[in-house]
Amino acid sequence: MEKLKIVGGNKLSGTISCSGAKNAALPMLAATILSDKPVTFKNLPYLQDITTMFEILGSMGADITLNESMDFIISTANLNDFEARYELVKTMRASILVLGSLVAKHGFARIALPGGCAIGSRPVNFHLDALEQLGAKIELKSGYIEASCSKLVGCEINFPGISVTGTENIMMAAVLAKGQTILRNVAKEPEVEDLANFLNSMGAKVSGAGTDEIVIDGVDVLNESVFEIPADRIEAGTYLIAAAITGGDVTIHNIDAKRMNNIIDKLKLSGAAISVFNSSISLEMSNKTLKPVDISTAPYPGFPTDMQAQFTVLNSLSSGPSVVSENVFENRFMHVQELNRMGCDITIKGNNAFVKGVSNLNGAPVMATDLRASASLILAGLCASGETIVDRIYHIDRGYERIEEKLSYLGANITRLPN
Ligand code: UD1
Repeated sequence: MEKLKIVGGNKLSGTISCSGAKNAALPMLAATILSDKPVTFKNLPYLQDITTMFEILGSMGADITLNESMDFIISTANLNDFEARYELVKTMRASILVLGSLVAKHGFARIALPGGCAIGSRPVNFHLDALEQLGAKIELKSGYIEASCSKLVGCEINFPGISVTGTENIMMAAVLAKGQTILRNVAKEPEVEDLANFLNSMGAKVSGAGTDEIVIDGVDVLNESVFEIPADRIEAGTYLIAAAITGGDVTIHNIDAKRMNNIIDKLKLSGAAISVFNSSISLEMSNKTLKPVDISTAPYPGFPTDMQAQFTVLNSLSSGPSVVSENVFENRFMHVQELNRMGCDITIKGNNAFVKGVSNLNGAPVMATDLRASASLILAGLCASGETIVDRIYHIDRGYERIEEKLSYLGANITRLPN
């Protein structure tokens, strides 16, 4: 298994470009099922999760090609199998995103039921209940969800809790349903808005994405589209933290700072000087002491759970105590044990991490447990004295494009060790 070796202590400085957002791209790839016409994606990130979604679409009969501009062209006109197999779903829970499109377009879907995962039980009951309300028949058979219908019919759906992929799945299903669908208590993440923009670019009629209520007027067919995947706010946030904790000075291009206000506000409170430009952000931290900042995760526009582990590292290197509360997922503190082995002083009580600032960290062999946990271990390694070896980095390859190249470019001493 590949590992990352980091020798800590270098200040990061320079400029990098942000990649396309994984969490925007995945639902859009699933939404290609809704149209018989080819869809062209620009700026699709090169990530393991994207490859997994390609494998799922490919196994169903989709054609995926790359043109000379490195754009991906996807055609699902000849889909002949409507199943997402367990071998693929178990590696990526977001595979559930093909459910809504398959049922709406083909009247049938068989998707392996995602199991538990490192950050909690993560059920899909909101997805299934909402799909039933649109008229689908749902059965659970031998570890698979089987959903079928003759034609989905629009209705009013109140989600019992806020779910990002739940909102996206049902938005996709409703696009081809008969009549109007109103979704209430939906997720307002920028990626939900991105998906609505993409669906509308294909001819769907979706309004209200980014607010609590989304209205979808069903259409009969969707057309072709050429769409650019927006930049990844979580990737950008992770590199900003890398700059802050190493006392560096970094600019990130190709990112819309407006979708990162929740992260930028906390970084400012930690003492970082941040400048926001049209499509870039700069952070400067030289010669300043990091201040502790309390963090409480919540659905957008709250502080993202996907930045919790990384901010916990920043707080660990700050001048005092802080509390990090995880309110979105149960059991999302798996990184803490490994961080403590590197010299952090963090105590977990329920959904709160009590963090004491420490003056230095020590390099150590550590084990990644999930995507954002791995990012936090790399961040800690960048500041630790000596060598840190991060094992199981397939987690990081799921969501960070060429992380060691980007960090090296900024001056980090980081190398990928072969199997
Ligand atoms: C998405 C993101 C993930 C992010 C998370 C929260 C993608 C591909 N993944 O995951 O990176 O960490 O949002 O911002 O976009 N829940 C239920 N029943 C359901 C669905 C969810 O109880 O049917 C609960 C979950 O257990 C969790 C909470 O709702 O406690 C939020 O989860 P959700 O927003 O659905 O996360 P994902 O969409 O899986």
